[in-house]
Amino acid sequence: MVKKEDLLSTIDKNYLPSHIAIIMDGNGRWAEEKGQERLYGHFHGVESVRNIVEGAAELGIGYLTLYAFSTENWDRPRQEVDGLMALLVDTIRKEVPILNKNNIRLHVIGDMNMLPVFALEELQEALHLTEENTGLNLIMALSYSSRWELVNAVKNIGIDVKKGSIDPEQINADTLQQYLSTSKFPDPELMIRTSGEYRISNFLLYQLAYAELYFTNTRWPDFRKENLYEAIVDFQKRERRFGKTGSQIQEDINVS
Ligand code: IPE
Ligand code: IPE
Ligand code: MG
Repeated sequence: MVKKEDLLSTIDKNYLPSHIAIIMDGNGRWAEEKGQERLYGHFHGVESVRNIVEGAAELGIGYLTLYAFSTENWDRPRQEVDGLMALLVDTIRKEVPILNKNNIRLHVIGDMNMLPVFALEELQEALHLTEENTGLNLIMALSYSSRWELVNAVKNIGIDVKKGSIDPEQINADTLQQYLSTSKFPDPELMIRTSGEYRISNFLLYQLAYAELYFTNTRWPDFRKENLYEAIVDFQKRERRFGKTGSQIQEDINVS
């Protein structure tokens, strides 16, 4: 295994992904493999969140989106959902001073109407307390699903067309972008999913159009900075073509 410092020195600091999105998966299996309850895995997953947020901030990444809870996750057993909500509130309360110390601004995307009031209040407080920070933008996807987001965007565009504030003939990709919950953020350039699952699970379907996808077998509670560095090193080896040919991309690089 390559040492953490060696991996870090391999990273080209001038070619970092501006936005990294992570599907933090595998907490439940990690716990079950240790003969523990699933919630034990979620609890340890928080340590990975802390480590990765710190790692991203140290590197100077602009945006980090973490998929923490999907719309579909509401269908899990009541005990797990309740445990996750309590963990969320507890974590936010503990982490806000650290976010402030590291100049990290918290954002949230998702269907906030679904959250219990105590969680929503804690979240709103944290958003407010970190809103002046200008370093890493940490975006938590909570009660989020991409289909929910797209349906919501279409509904709101429809409302504004009816009101007359937008002309349907003028609707373009920029219009749709403005109605997404990610309107203020650039699209992710690198998407990581842990725990050996090869699917998107309703995460940022539109925004991931040209993201580089990176899958690792590492379960989320075991994921640390060195794993993030590995993903970034892998990203930096890829040729991103955006529909063009490889030689066009090489020409573009030579010109710039
Ligand atoms: C990811 O881990 C965390 C959440 C979805 C809340 P899982 O809970 O999905 O863990 P596995 O995939 O069952 O192992
Ligand atoms: C996706 O993980 C959601 C989060 C990581 C929050 P799931 O574990 O819920 O996804 P599926 O059900 O395996 O696709
Ligand atoms: Mg899972």
